[in-house]
Amino acid sequence: MVLENIDAAYKQPKSEKIEDKIGNKELPIWDKMPEIVETLKNNNRLILVAETGSGKTTQVPQALWAEGFAEQGKIFVVENRVAVAVEIAKRVAEEMKVKIGQEVGYLTGPEKKSSRRAQIIFLTSGVFKNIIREDPKMEQASVVLFDEFDERYLLSDIGLALVEKAQDQGSMVKFGLMSATLNAQKFSEHFGGAPIVEAKGRPYPVESHYAADSISLYRMPEKSAELALSIHQSSSHGDILIFMPGKQEIKATIDEMLSRNITGATILPLYSELSPQERHRVFEKQPGRKIIVATNIAERGLTIDGIRYVIDSGLVRMNEYDPAADTTKLMTVPTAQDSLRQRQGRAGRTQPGECYFLITEDEFNHRPTTTKPEIMRTSLREVVLQIKAMGYSREEDSIRLIDSPDKKNWQIAKNQLRLLGALDPQNEAKLSEFGYKLSELSCDPREGTMLLRGCEMGCGQEMALIAAIRTSKRLLYRPQDEIEQADAAHKQFEISNLSDLLNLANTYEQAKRMNFDSRWCRKNYISWTALREVQQNYLQLLNQIKKLGYQINQDKATPEIICRAMATGFPDKIFENIGRGWYRNTTTGEEALLGRESCVSGDLIIANELITIQTRRGGELPLITLATKLEPTWLNN
Ligand code: CDP
Ligand code: MG
Repeated sequence: MVLENIDAAYKQPKSEKIEDKIGNKELPIWDKMPEIVETLKNNNRLILVAETGSGKTTQVPQALWAEGFAEQGKIFVVENRVAVAVEIAKRVAEEMKVKIGQEVGYLTGPEKKSSRRAQIIFLTSGVFKNIIREDPKMEQASVVLFDEFDERYLLSDIGLALVEKAQDQGSMVKFGLMSATLNAQKFSEHFGGAPIVEAKGRPYPVESHYAADSISLYRMPEKSAELALSIHQSSSHGDILIFMPGKQEIKATIDEMLSRNITGATILPLYSELSPQERHRVFEKQPGRKIIVATNIAERGLTIDGIRYVIDSGLVRMNEYDPAADTTKLMTVPTAQDSLRQRQGRAGRTQPGECYFLITEDEFNHRPTTTKPEIMRTSLREVVLQIKAMGYSREEDSIRLIDSPDKKNWQIAKNQLRLLGALDPQNEAKLSEFGYKLSELSCDPREGTMLLRGCEMGCGQEMALIAAIRTSKRLLYRPQDEIEQADAAHKQFEISNLSDLLNLANTYEQAKRMNFDSRWCRKNYISWTALREVQQNYLQLLNQIKKLGYQINQDKATPEIICRAMATGFPDKIFENIGRGWYRNTTTGEEALLGRESCVSGDLIIANELITIQTRRGGELPLITLATKLEPTWLNN
């Protein structure tokens, strides 16, 4: 439908009807609200593009609620970040003057607060995937809003494809895509001419500055610290937000500032591994000017009140899956223009702002316009498994993806599933009974296989913990300048030289014995948030295997049995020792270095985690970061 028609059809501004008690009507999005509401009343899809800070995330769900959408079912808002789902839900509850967890709730893996009668629910795409799997027709929902859809995370692409599928099959559920930088035309065409509502206008102007010359990654912390200090000295007010690619650079930037004896400011790091309390400090009032140094966690979604200056390294740490080698590359890469604009938009949300790009204007103009969708840079094992489990037979065509990876990548995923025994040998379009069971688990099919086989072998409980560890954030951290202290601390938790995962499981058990005390965690270089995530995932997996009818046993859980169970998930990841720390894959011949932090050695090992890292000189190094020892006799069972 064309916009003019909507305007003509609905001359009466509907905003008068919307209850006065909700929202913040000053925000620019309210000018378009009648159009947004009417479009969604008359269509089952909507594409909404409006500037960051205009009020999409906080206002649209409230307006739909006020217009009675919740009477038909819940209003789901799918977020890409736990922190955004949590903070925004709290904000919306506050604006609606209700208690968080009642009418307005949030559901994320590690943190949740919601009730049966919640009508607006902010949730992560992972949680949404589980919900739509249980309820493929989405009978419980009236509308699903995909927020910041331009980020194109794998699970939001899949979630959206499944909602479209539900609509095709007669479901009444509606969906909306929300973004500040989406190519509305492209998505409208993909969804058969879905109506677009566009709201132009940033709440406040942001002036851009560019670097005169290129700056290397190595010098970013120093440069940004210098710039932050000169802003701090020359301007009287306004907080500063600095974007760095990772934790390491954040720490270096903070150290640079501290070494210059800065006064009258509070310097705060912000990255996803911080505990919710630590994270929340950036939203609270602090003595003096706030200088926040963040990863791209702060790029979108969140409003940090008072930010007037943004300093952007123009870099991001990103994973890129290499299907041929089945490894993930961890890279620091230049951010695309959509990201640069989002970061710039962090200033100007509550006042006019300034953005200092630490790249030249020419570099800016030559950056790709959009970030590569995650589905194009990830393993498809889990995608294929989930799609097949929902009864769709040909993963390439049965659900319509906006961007579909290479045929080759699908094929590799299918080969891996076949190897794990997840496909029906008579008809590979279908899952085997074992494959269906795997699809019920909230972990990668590799970890799922070792978990279910572990149950059969008498070590289900241990394997559930190990699978939970592999599904969560990294448990141990090794700060660049404290590597020796960290390694020494981690050494205490080594109980075996058979598997790094056994030692991680022991680390978790010890932390649990300490009641996850955060000071103890910090002293031992263990991530508190990762521990909580492991705990959640562990309980979830135990429930899932119980539901599948498995005994949660540990009667035969010797280290050897556990290692044998581990091998079942990695039949194609067996490496032989070729000397000087290097190993060779016995099937593919590919070579990799065993990481120094691994406790394992021997003639034959399983690579439980294999990544490619960038070396200082810019080369690439395949590295086995988690390994398990293997005896040749363990393979024949
Ligand atoms: O989603 P979008 O970027 O369009 O904006 P939003 O998250 O709905 O926030 C809209 C506006 O609400 C922001 O520009 C802030 O002015 C205000 N806000 C705030 O002050 N504090 C929050 N925690 C959230 C929003
Ligand atoms: Mg938003």
